[in-house]
Parts: sequence; C-alpha cells; structure tokens
Amino acid sequence: MDVNKLPVHVGIIMDGNGRWAQRRLMPRSVGHNAGMNRMIGLASHAKELGIRYMTVYALSTENLSRPQEELDALFNLFRKYFTRNVKKLYRQQAAVKVIGDLSALPQDVEKLLSDGEKNSPENPQFTLIFAVNYGSRPEILRAVNRAVEQGEPLDKEGFEKLLYTSGIPDPDLIIRTGGEVRLSNFLTYQAAYAELYFCDALFPEFTDRKFDKALENYASRHRRFGKIEE
Ligand code: IPE
Ligand code: IPE
Ligand code: MG
Repeated sequence: MDVNKLPVHVGIIMDGNGRWAQRRLMPRSVGHNAGMNRMIGLASHAKELGIRYMTVYALSTENLSRPQEELDALFNLFRKYFTRNVKKLYRQQAAVKVIGDLSALPQDVEKLLSDGEKNSPENPQFTLIFAVNYGSRPEILRAVNRAVEQGEPLDKEGFEKLLYTSGIPDPDLIIRTGGEVRLSNFLTYQAAYAELYFCDALFPEFTDRKFDKALENYASRHRRFGKIEE
C-alpha cells in the first residue's frame, strides 16, 4: 500500500451486528460481541498500517432508545473493553479517546471511559476514538450553546474547538458496513470532504482484507476540495 495515499483518519460506522447474529438464530448481543472483537482486530491492523486515527461509531444517541437488554449487553462490552483490552493499546503507544455525551451512561461506564482517555499515553502513534452516545446534531447544538455563552463571534477554527472532535483532523475516509447508505448522525460536520465507502458485509464479517480493499479504493480517488485538478 502506498503510504502517501493512506488516510490519516478513518471513521467506521460499524453496522450489521444485530443482523449477523439474527441470521445465526442468536441474540443480537452475540453480534455485538463479535463486532467488538472485530473492532479490536481492525484497530490493531489499522495501527500496523500507519493510520493515525480511527473513529468507531459504537453507539449513536438514537441507539439509546433500543431495548434495555440490548443496551446492557453493549455496556458490558464497553466495561470489558475498557478494563482489559485498553491496556494492550497503551503498551503499543496508542491512545483512546471518547466522543459523545457520556453523562447518560451508567456511572461506572462513564468513569471507565473517561479514565480510559485520561490514562492514555501522550503523543500516541495511533488514537482509537470511540463514538459513544454520539450524534452530530447534539454535538453541533452543544457547540453552538457554548459559543453563545462565550458571547463572541467564532471563525471555523474557533467553532471546531467546541466540537467533541477538537484537535482531531477531519476524517479522510468513512466506511459503513452492513449495506445501508447513510451517515446516521455520524460526524456530519467533520465529513464535509470525507470520501465515503459503503460495503455490504455485516460488521463482524468485515475482515482486514475488506478494510484493505476500502483503503485501495480510497487511494484511487481524486480529492479535489473544490479545485480544478492539476
Ligand atoms: C450496529 O449494529 C451497532 C450498534 C448500533 C450498536 P446494529 O445493532 O445496528 O446491527 P443491525 O443493523 O441491526 O444488523
Ligand atoms: C448506526 O447504525 C449507529 C452505529 C453503528 C453505532 P444504526 O443501525 O443505528 O443506524 P440506522 O438506524 O440504520 O440508521
Ligand atoms: Mg443497524
């Protein structure tokens, strides 16, 4: 892979866990477990390739209205990840960051996630960003309200500092698995110039090879940013 054509930041809408399990006549929580394992594999693959940031959409603000049983299964997966797997990341000079409104989560989960961020190494080679109870619209509204409180007109840079993603470069590539062709409230402000890649594979079946195919496809695109190609 041509390193110069590698995205700096990849966003992944990890969709299709529930269907993956249901097709196997298993509860949706089994799909989330398989999805979490796949996410862990993809993160280390992305890091090995030299990608700097990977944002994974783990729970949308809208997902919070799913049945409590499913949410509890997801919270348990977050608990497991943030107590065990995260340490392995730290040892590899990788950091975790969390974006979204954590205050609506069970208190212990909120603490685990924010501690996971705080205990991360400084100057990491790779940052795994978890979007949890994240939605672009609430993110933008929150930033607008903070801007109003400050009472000063803001420029683009000033506004972006008020977003959850402050300090993180915009995603170059956003991948959605599971066959749906939409963003579902994921990084809509930041995705203004992202390349989008949609894939039918359900997330637990989204192998490293399929991820590489998305990167190859990305590398073949012409990003013009409104200009005329030289
Ligand atoms: C995405 O998979 C993960 C979360 C939303 C937490 P889904 O749970 O939406 O899986 P499908 O789309 O129902 O298959
Ligand atoms: C998007 O998937 C959210 C995550 C992957 C976390 P959804 O399954 O919630 O999206 P919709 O409802 O199909 O748009
Ligand atoms: Mg879905």
